[in-house]
Amino acid sequence: MRKKLLINGEWLETEKYSPLLSPYSGEVIAEIPVAMEKETDEAIEAAYRARGEMAKMPAHQRANILETLARLLEERAEEAAQIIALEAAKPITTAKAEVSRTVETYKFAAEEAKRIHGETLPLDAAYGGEGRVAYTVREPIGVVGAITPFNFPMNLVAHKLGPAIASGNTIILKPASQTPLSAFFIAELLQEAGLPNGALNVVTGGGRIVGDRIVSDERVNMITFTGSPAVGIGIRNKAGLKRVTLELGSNAGVIIDKGVDVDKIISRCVTGAFSNQGQVCISLQRVYAHEESYDQFVEKFIEATNKLKLGNPLDPETDVSALISPNDVQRTLHWIEEAKQGGANVATGGKAEGNILYPTVILDADPSLKVSCQEVFAPIVLINKVKSVEEAFELVNDSRYGLQAGIYTENVHTALNAAEKLHVGGVMINDIPTFRVDHMPYGGVKESGFGREGLKYAIEEMTELKLIVWNRN
Ligand code: SIN
Repeated sequence: MRKKLLINGEWLETEKYSPLLSPYSGEVIAEIPVAMEKETDEAIEAAYRARGEMAKMPAHQRANILETLARLLEERAEEAAQIIALEAAKPITTAKAEVSRTVETYKFAAEEAKRIHGETLPLDAAYGGEGRVAYTVREPIGVVGAITPFNFPMNLVAHKLGPAIASGNTIILKPASQTPLSAFFIAELLQEAGLPNGALNVVTGGGRIVGDRIVSDERVNMITFTGSPAVGIGIRNKAGLKRVTLELGSNAGVIIDKGVDVDKIISRCVTGAFSNQGQVCISLQRVYAHEESYDQFVEKFIEATNKLKLGNPLDPETDVSALISPNDVQRTLHWIEEAKQGGANVATGGKAEGNILYPTVILDADPSLKVSCQEVFAPIVLINKVKSVEEAFELVNDSRYGLQAGIYTENVHTALNAAEKLHVGGVMINDIPTFRVDHMPYGGVKESGFGREGLKYAIEEMTELKLIVWNRN
């Protein structure tokens, strides 16, 4: 299956193609076009030329395109889920859940398109402001460069395209090199939904050439990126005066207070740690359990972990499948070995079969180990004993990252303390950090990035606030 680039509404061939391999079986599943500077430049130019038409398009029409896209995707949900499962090795039940979320994300985007508004300001609150009235409007920022990751190849694309289209921008999309098929699929549906030529351009391959060009080109007004902190920082440094939204990683933690009904939370914590092989920015990586809950939590968590089914992502029984690349399998095995050498106890897992890393539970890991202080992005979770929730607050905060954190507690004062003390973008009370619905503000502090996704919030990032002042004097 040979794919093409989408530039200015046309599907174009390139000189070079690269094979796309299934992370699970290693088989070739498609031939992906390799865009170089020339194609990237054409894509940017197309987006630049189309920006006037998109900016003028009435809100009801932008909403209609997004509603139509949501409907088309709903009609082809099964096919969409198969694409995700195939290219990302996401277990099919989780892939189906991602498609449902994507449909909802575009529906939220359609709704938000209709309520992009400013406010009126009483200027006479200031000396010299008498006799004047002001209002603000939000105008599209122009051309948005969207660089998306492999772990949610459809819904994280939706979190860039949805708000960009809702607010009248044009886009150059560079999907992750391992998961371009989901992006091409959505681009086809968007054409069918009536998006004007040039409003969305999809360029793949070309490694850093494409990304660097998009990030440094002056015709591009904003970069929205989800991925690793290292790449995010590089983008920030190259982007000049462009607006930049960075949704980067984390080593998210949950705190289990004393007195919590452990039976009630085990399955949710297992899901948080191992869903999509732990390749989620808010995957549960660090558990801090109060000493009164620790033994029971560890025993039941390991028991539930050992029941997970490993295998083919297309099998509906599979809970855990392959990591995205053999390199990631090797990396995580090295990190586990380092943890063992550093005195941690690998209670279950710790080995791989093909590209599948067994769900791994590590006890007593020192905070300096890579499995603790870096983002593992793999099915590895640490469980540590704490004497108090205050100690756990410090340990959760002792991180380069700060995306989301969770706490299970029966004590309202402890919950309120957690809300205040945890230095993250979102605190989940009585839930895992791995909670996300698509209209909530989502983003982090520290090396987890800046800016927020969630349609309403992303639209704020993708628009310019303009002030209009009327002088009646
Ligand atoms: C992410 O990995 O940042 C996205 C998590 C999600 O959308 O559930």
